[in-house]
Amino acid sequence: MDGEASDEEMQTGKRREGKRKMIRSIQMLIDDHARMRSMLVCFEGQLERFENAEKPDYEILGGSIAYCQEYLDRWHHPHEEMILDLLKRRAPAKARIFVELDDQHRGLARVSEELVTLFDAVEQDAEFPRERLVELGRTLLDDYRHHLEWEETNFFSAAMEHLLPEDWREIAGRFAASTVPPTPSLIDQRYQTLHDAISEAKAVPDATHRQRSGREQIQRH
Ligand SMILES: [Fe+2]
Repeated sequence: MDGEASDEEMQTGKRREGKRKMIRSIQMLIDDHARMRSMLVCFEGQLERFENAEKPDYEILGGSIAYCQEYLDRWHHPHEEMILDLLKRRAPAKARIFVELDDQHRGLARVSEELVTLFDAVEQDAEFPRERLVELGRTLLDDYRHHLEWEETNFFSAAMEHLLPEDWREIAGRFAASTVPPTPSLIDQRYQTLHDAISEAKAVPDATHRQRSGREQIQRH
């Protein structure tokens, strides 16, 4: 009887640990999203200056684009794709709805890559036609904002609903084993200006609203 009780206790302990790891992992992704929204606000401001032929802060403009490539494409998105792989195993029918996650990530990576190339060309040649960079910058803004909203509304909820405690233990272990640091300020000194601008943009109502709704989403589970 004692043995049965301790087995039950062990199972309860594992479930609680899995839930803690689920909350921590999703919170990490939601925190990334909040930083991303603040970064988009900074990027948009500088893109408008660039479009109006005012002098933009090139460190923020270029740093934002490089951040999308170097951090989001290499760290954030692969972690979400790992969660999708586990969801395919646990709830294949549900996971079929989210096949577009990979397509959205690939699309964002393509836009970021083209922007980096264009940005380099503009920096080297003041006469370079700037319309394409502005147009592509706006595409990046729209696509990222839609993507963040879509993930938070649909994908994170489905993962929290269908994945098991052992899945979250595996996810947390693989997050922890990642070699890329999870905050932009630690990635590279080049992001210092961007990081400062992001800190200031945290007061922006849209970013604050999203941070709050992300927390509410976790609390529902
Ligand atoms: Fe995301």
